[in-house]
Amino acid sequence: MSAPVSAPDPLSVSLQNMHTFGLKASALALRPLACPADLLAFTEQARAGEPLLLLGEGSNTVFVQASYPLTVWAMRWTGKQWLGCDGTHHWLRAQGGENWHNLVEWTVLNGWPGLENLALIPGSVGASPVQNIGAYGVELESRVAAVHVWDVKRACHVVFSKAHCEFAYRDSIFKHFDPNKYIITAVDFALPVKWQAELGYGDVAARVRERGVLSPLNVMKSVCEIRSAKLPDPRVLGNSGSFFKNPIVAATTAQAMLTKYPNMVHYPMPDGQVKLAAGWLIDQAGLKGHRIGQVGVYSRQALILVNHGGGQAEDLQRIINHVCHTVQAQFGVLLEPEPNLI
Ligand code: EPU
Repeated sequence: MSAPVSAPDPLSVSLQNMHTFGLKASALALRPLACPADLLAFTEQARAGEPLLLLGEGSNTVFVQASYPLTVWAMRWTGKQWLGCDGTHHWLRAQGGENWHNLVEWTVLNGWPGLENLALIPGSVGASPVQNIGAYGVELESRVAAVHVWDVKRACHVVFSKAHCEFAYRDSIFKHFDPNKYIITAVDFALPVKWQAELGYGDVAARVRERGVLSPLNVMKSVCEIRSAKLPDPRVLGNSGSFFKNPIVAATTAQAMLTKYPNMVHYPMPDGQVKLAAGWLIDQAGLKGHRIGQVGVYSRQALILVNHGGGQAEDLQRIINHVCHTVQAQFGVLLEPEPNLI
């Protein structure tokens, strides 16, 4: 008698390498979304009510469940082009599956600067407007002209002008839609012809000075050096970049906190509120290097949680809770995770 054939595991596609935090997880199927025909296939599945998830490079997504009975579509639609120059701006378009840092390098090396402060941010172009990525004094919103999306329900292309994107700190209208409502297929950028370096961050200014020449290339290289020194490489140590948003509090709250903690890092905002540095709060709460199982607060930058290898979702959840409770108990401020926990 032959041995019984065991049914194949229905959730046999591993997602571990599909998100940079690297927790073990599996899904039903994995499909690339790389061309217009794939948009139609995605739309058909969505209309049939099949459970789907659209993913970029997984640098801002954490799979916290062991298994997901759904099809994961990975945005892999590449292509980028210079559309022209109207005398004041260079206009460019990049498809959603382009790697963000490759786009930054390509623009700087071709003489269309403006994105250099955003170098080395992990992730794809299509994900960049969702959380309005930002670093070293530049937010994506200041460089975006429009966002091209595929409306899944109506099966048609729609263009969101910058004003319609409702950009805010690490936020946009896209964060608030049902994730399968729109697929961001491409982003248009308007980069000022008259380049002005953004050197508001002391570290960046100092590194550029060391390099001697003030140029977009030197700003980009300086940003890359700073990020590489502070932020762990996900290929070596699983992580999702900043794990918590910098909390925004009322001016009166910040004032009261400053009386108690005069050295507290804070940034007054144009609307009168004050942004606090979550990294500083977590660090002051004594949590740098704190570990639960194989998941911990990064020892060189308290804003980052890392997977030391073989980390469990329960450990991640416990450390998120621990960090939030400890910071709230000491400072009365509630932290919010920045990545999308699925
Ligand atoms: N700080 C500490 N201890 C720490 C970490 C930070 O005291 O362990 C202090 C720093 O000394 C600094 C302040 O906190 O005075 C802020 O830290 P940092 O300049 O490193 O920036 P951040 O607020 O932690 C934000 C973005 C980063 C971006 C940097 C640079 C968020 C959530 N994070 O981090 O973005 O690269 O500014 O502009 O807004 C990301 O979103 O994934 C990301 C890395």
